[in-house]
Amino acid sequence: MKNTTKIILAIESSCDDTSCAVLANTKVLSNVTANQLIHKKYGGVVPELASRDHQKNIVPVVNEALTLAEVKLNELTAISVTKGPGLMGSLLVGISFAKSLALALSIPLIGVNHMQGHILAHFIDDANKTGAPHFPFICLTVSGGHTQLVLVKNYLDFEIIGETQDDAVGEAFDKAAKIIGLEYPGGPLIDKFARDGDFTKYKFAESKLEGLNYSFSGIKTSFLYFINKEVQKNENFINENLNDICASYQKHLVTVLLKNAEIAIKKYGIKYFAIAGGVSANSELRLQVKHLCERLNVNYYIPKFEYCTDNAAMIGITAYYKLLENKLSDFNLTPQVRLSVTEF
Ligand code: KG4
Ligand code: ZN
Repeated sequence: MKNTTKIILAIESSCDDTSCAVLANTKVLSNVTANQLIHKKYGGVVPELASRDHQKNIVPVVNEALTLAEVKLNELTAISVTKGPGLMGSLLVGISFAKSLALALSIPLIGVNHMQGHILAHFIDDANKTGAPHFPFICLTVSGGHTQLVLVKNYLDFEIIGETQDDAVGEAFDKAAKIIGLEYPGGPLIDKFARDGDFTKYKFAESKLEGLNYSFSGIKTSFLYFINKEVQKNENFINENLNDICASYQKHLVTVLLKNAEIAIKKYGIKYFAIAGGVSANSELRLQVKHLCERLNVNYYIPKFEYCTDNAAMIGITAYYKLLENKLSDFNLTPQVRLSVTEF
């Protein structure tokens, strides 16, 4: 490796996945994630259990990432870690570990905003088939906690141009999944069952908001009322129509997401459009983004699956651009439970 190459070890522990990646500049050498299955039986993430699992997982995950990357500790240029947004206890595990490692190795520490990480995942060497987006681009960031349209002017220059006023779209997926008896997180399961369903079968409410903002809590409530009403008429309604329910609901959420995306692309005269975050793994969203952008003659960027849901590689790539601008953290770095994509 050339001595100008920056070797960054990245840690992500903001929610329920413990992840570590090693990058050489923009190339991912390893990206290891331990998923916490313990939350499934509770139907959602239990913060205290999440932090305890991070504590158990962090050393083996970091060791495996270093081994797979064939990198030794003394070859690292910097240690990066998610500083927020996320769960306090979960963030604390990653941050404490990263601080100790950076201190022991006497190398820089770089705290990273998780939401910036989701967006900058597009700049990982092999993130997209079509290369990295050009600036300025619009990124639809869709995860368990966020639904935002972000105007990305440069690597570290973001402006929110629209966002949800209540639930995130990931929550709209997960809560609906829970209503029909699917395990947490239900988003991927709705996606799976929807593949064999008829998306034209059922219709759901739409919330109209000013400008480019979103609202998903009304849609979720209309789903709940719809299911309750149908189950009263036929107690086997869910089992008999699972695929069609999932397909119709998923189609509705994707249509709502992309309606504002289209308005934003036209309003800002943007030629590059990207999606990011856990829900960008959704197959219907990926398909409809392709159709929308082909119709509007806009270049589109859909990340590989492993860079959609939470992962440390996205933290490493963001740290790389911060390192280039000498935006380092000091050892007073503390978790920031709330942190906007525009904050550092
Ligand atoms: O970005 P992420 O891994 O964690 C957060 O930062 O929130 O996103 C998790 C969210 C969950 O709501 C999960 O159900 C959703 O992403 N998700 C999906 C799919 N894969 C993950 N939603 C719909 N379809 C999928 N294939
Ligand atoms: Zn995330």
